[in-house]
Amino acid sequence: MRILSGIQPSGTLHLGNYFGMMRPAIELQAKGEAYYFIADYHSMTTLFDPAERRKNSLGVALDFLACGLDPKRSVFFRQSDVPEVTELAWILSTLTPMSLLEKCTSYKDKVAKGIPVNHGLFAYPVLMAADILIYDSNVVPVGQDQKQHVEVTRDIAVKFNEAYGETFVIPEPQIRGETAKVPGTDGEKMSKSYGNTIEIFGDEKVLRKKVMSIKMDSRLPAEPKPDADQNLAIQLLSVIDAGTGRQCEDQLRAGGLGYGDLKKKLFEVYWEHFAAARAKRADLAANLDYVNGVLQEGAGKAQALARTVLQRARRASGLE
Ligand code: TRP
Repeated sequence: MRILSGIQPSGTLHLGNYFGMMRPAIELQAKGEAYYFIADYHSMTTLFDPAERRKNSLGVALDFLACGLDPKRSVFFRQSDVPEVTELAWILSTLTPMSLLEKCTSYKDKVAKGIPVNHGLFAYPVLMAADILIYDSNVVPVGQDQKQHVEVTRDIAVKFNEAYGETFVIPEPQIRGETAKVPGTDGEKMSKSYGNTIEIFGDEKVLRKKVMSIKMDSRLPAEPKPDADQNLAIQLLSVIDAGTGRQCEDQLRAGGLGYGDLKKKLFEVYWEHFAAARAKRADLAANLDYVNGVLQEGAGKAQALARTVLQRARRASGLE
């Protein structure tokens, strides 16, 4: 089974990204042949700062390797190191009805919000289809927000197969189940766009401050709190370490645990949880030759496969 997914290099990863996407992706390595790439071509639809793109792409590579992506098991690469995917995107675009793309909600949402949209953004799902089809992917693990794009991919693959003969594997989306909801520091879903994130990696002081500034109500420590499960710090703690979460929840409910101490505990548990990954990331950052080597080796493997599938499509469609 070939598993494929792309990760947009959109900035520093936070706990929501980690528990929602990274950890499940890393666990999937054991279930099949995983292909994971840094979607730098896709980032071009919304990010126009070259230095930032470079920095974010490297950052995502470091984050994933530090958190346990194993380059011996998985093929890990940069999307743009396999430019064949853009040729396939062109071929696929000629079979993609405009109406299929006009229906895509992530595009429609941007239009509705008044964000200026470019053609790349409109064609985003076609490039994504090329990403998926060029590696003969069977399973595509994505968040709910990307499900529609995988469905578009299936539609395009079927159209191609009907027009030019059996060429592409029809992929299945694997929608990540509601992983424990990861609330941000304000109680909304943790998301970069809400400015309520706690990063996986970063400066200890800054992160401690973020944790300690999580808003609590004004009840005194001694007061029993029957709604302890609704407490933000408890919810975050439970996502990171269910056992400690339960313990603190019981103490909070019974009364006697102050909010300050609870947040200190949360910070400790969180900081400790990522201690090994933090050390590994520092190591990797000091060994960029190694990291670039991993990405290059991944690109080599990915490209070899991409070329055979692209050739299949070129032959089927009469380019060859
Ligand atoms: N669009 C995906 C996201 O923003 C990233 C992505 C690009 C992707 N190409 C892909 C995901 C192919 C899965 C398969 O999350």
